[in-house]
Amino acid sequence: MKKNVVLYKEIEEQALIKLQAHFNLNYFPVVNDDNRDAFYDALKKADGLIGASMAMPGSLLKLAPNLKALSSISVGVDQFDLDYINANNIALMHTLNVLTETTADTLFTLLLCAARRAVELSNMVRNGGWKSSITSDQFGVNVHGKTLGIIGMGRIGYALGKRAYHGFDMQVNYYNRSANKEAENTLNAQRLSLQELLTSSDFICVVVPLSTETEKLIGEAEFKLMKPDAIFINGGRGKVIDEKALIEALKNNVIRGAGLDVFEVEPLPGSSPLCFMDNAVVFPHIGSATAETRLAMANCAVDNMISALQQDLTKNCFNAQQLKS
Ligand code: 8YV
Repeated sequence: MKKNVVLYKEIEEQALIKLQAHFNLNYFPVVNDDNRDAFYDALKKADGLIGASMAMPGSLLKLAPNLKALSSISVGVDQFDLDYINANNIALMHTLNVLTETTADTLFTLLLCAARRAVELSNMVRNGGWKSSITSDQFGVNVHGKTLGIIGMGRIGYALGKRAYHGFDMQVNYYNRSANKEAENTLNAQRLSLQELLTSSDFICVVVPLSTETEKLIGEAEFKLMKPDAIFINGGRGKVIDEKALIEALKNNVIRGAGLDVFEVEPLPGSSPLCFMDNAVVFPHIGSATAETRLAMANCAVDNMISALQQDLTKNCFNAQQLKS
C-alpha cells in the first residue's frame, strides 16, 4: 500500500516524477494563506513530509500524527523542532554532500566581491558614475597570499579552504570543535582558538550550522578582536552572528567589509542598513542555488524519503542516533 507524502516546496520535474511514482503525493509548490488549511488537512494522513524553507515547530508537526519521516531539501536543519522530532521518533533526513562544492563557490564569490568591491564598483558603472580612471579611494584589497580563518571546518569549510589554499596561495586557519586532520595534512591548515583566529585573519568565514552552541557566536566583542582591514563572510546562518553588532562594526570601520548570504531575518528587509552599505555585499541566500545542485538536492531528498519510509536510515539521517528502533 503506497504511503502518503506531503511535498511543501516546488521541486524539479525529474524528482517530482520519482516521488509521485513511489507515494500518494500531496504537492504544495508553496504554502500560503490560500492553501494553508488544505496543507494542514493533508498533514493528517501524512507518513512523510518533504520540503524546505519553512519553520517546522512541534505545533505544526503535531498535525501529522502518522508522521514517520521528514526529508529536508537542505543540509541545515535549524528550521525543525528537534526535541519534538526525536520525542516522536521521526527520522529527519537532509541533503549532505550534494551542495558542498557549490556553497563553497558562493562563499568564495562573496569573499572576492567584498575584497575587490565588485558589486559597489559595478553599480557605480551601471549608474554612469565612471567618469575617469579609478582612484585609490576605490581600490580593493588582495586576496591571494592572505590569511583565511574558517569558523567551522566541516565539508563546506574544507571545500572553501581547498579553493583558498590551492587556488589563491592563502594560509588557511580554522576554528572547530574537533581537529580536521585532512585539512591540516592537505591544506596545511592550522587549528586555532576562536580568539587567535579572529585576531590573525585577513578574511574570516563562518560556515557553522545554527545550534544552541553557535547562536550569536560572533558579536561586538568578536568584531572588535578582528583586524581593522578584516573582511567577514557569513555562509552559515544569520543567527550565528549578532547582526546589529556587525552593522555597527561596518558603520564605524571596526572591520573593512562583509559578504553575507544569510541573515537573522530572511528575506532581508529592504530597510536593513546592510542594503545601503557599500562595504557590505549581500546575497539572497544563494549558497546552493545552481540548477545542477538544486536538482541534485531534490533528487537526494526524494531518495532520502524513499529510504526513510523503508526504515533505511544508513545515509543522510540527521538524528539516526536519537531514534529508537
Ligand atoms: C537551502 C541551505 O537551499 O542547505 C542548506 O542548509 O541553506 C540551502 O542550501 C536552504 O536552506 C533552503 O531553504
